[in-house]
Amino acid sequence: MKTARGIDARESPDGGSSCDVQRIREDFPILKQLIHGKPLVYLDNAATTQKPRQVIESIVSFYSEECSNVHRGVHLLSERATRGFEATRSSVRRFIHARDDREIVFVRGATEAINLVACSYGRAHVRAGDEVLVTAMEHHSNIVPWQMLCAEKGAKLRVAPMNSKGELLLEEYERLLGPRTCLVAVTHVSNALGTVNPLHEIVEMAHRNGAVVLVDGAQAVQHMRVDVQALDCDFYVFSGHKIYGPTGIGVLYGRERLLESMPPYQGGGDMIASVTFEKTVYNKLPYKFEAGTPDIAGVIGLGAAIDYLQSVGIEKITSHEQDLLHYGTSILEGMPEIRILGTAAAKTSVLSFTVQGIHPHDVGTILDQEGIAIRTGHHCAQPVMDFFGVPATARASLALYNTRDELDALAAALRKVIEVFS
Ligand code: ALA
Repeated sequence: MKTARGIDARESPDGGSSCDVQRIREDFPILKQLIHGKPLVYLDNAATTQKPRQVIESIVSFYSEECSNVHRGVHLLSERATRGFEATRSSVRRFIHARDDREIVFVRGATEAINLVACSYGRAHVRAGDEVLVTAMEHHSNIVPWQMLCAEKGAKLRVAPMNSKGELLLEEYERLLGPRTCLVAVTHVSNALGTVNPLHEIVEMAHRNGAVVLVDGAQAVQHMRVDVQALDCDFYVFSGHKIYGPTGIGVLYGRERLLESMPPYQGGGDMIASVTFEKTVYNKLPYKFEAGTPDIAGVIGLGAAIDYLQSVGIEKITSHEQDLLHYGTSILEGMPEIRILGTAAAKTSVLSFTVQGIHPHDVGTILDQEGIAIRTGHHCAQPVMDFFGVPATARASLALYNTRDELDALAAALRKVIEVFS
């Protein structure tokens, strides 16, 4: 079934599409906290999500029972750690439906994954006069690495525009594609607006023009089913901490043929097959891109987070979050002082808004006194703010454990904010 906002919210195979949110909330110890004496209402999930006890326990258990380095020891602890580490790689592969574990590279987060592609693929394949095409709704992590690459190579960064709803102008995007376009870097979901981009069309048009496509999935994989083979993208990146996993761990998916063509990003242990002072032979995929001791506990935690998401059911999560998005949107639309930024037909989990005459930081500070955590600022997407002519917005972002009651609490607190400043 397609929801009104264009997200595929198919029923899960095991029945209904609603989450048992109260039971889910029991899994998140932090949600029991009082903030300034009020129950915590956590609506800053696009910045980072909270962690279920299953993830926390997996990390405690790794450090208490299995702590050891991976790929380096013949002893039992090292074998166990390696098994857990590589089991997560397979989980990630299944989670995003990649073809092979060799296409899954562990990195620190989406930002590092994009930098890896810019430094490695970009340095090897981008030439002077080439063009890298991004969209007007990218956050800094999917702009700056390409700017740096273009400056180094004498290439040009081009920007596909969006309309006032925050939707990519596909015709303009297609017009910007040409023989010089070597790479398209596009977000799956805008962190500042919630727009879900039409990736199938974007990828198909790019490929028709001979460009490879990197998709920033940092705001997508926690909200909807992602299938990199169906999308046919060349690279897909995401962070663990935004999908209920630990900070400091993330994933680069890359098409095997492309990863094979790329030089290593960093040198060191694990990325080598053999080293002499004369010559180093690099390890096979994916280890060629994993120099040094990795964040083993982070990977184990990421595996637990993916297990957790799958135990709830990604379709149920999509459906629940779409319900919350509709509910929250209708509340905010009913408040004349509030302007919502980002009203795309296909949208997920982000309510970005301004309150007339009140700086977003003041909104955020008063909401905090009510126990409500939102993000205020430019959301690391200054060009998006410039486009809408605002220095900042207040942003409430949703996760699987949020409830309609919490959105009612947000509305009541916003009424207070408006009262205080009237
Ligand atoms: N990009 C993250 C956010 O949207 C940090 O808050």
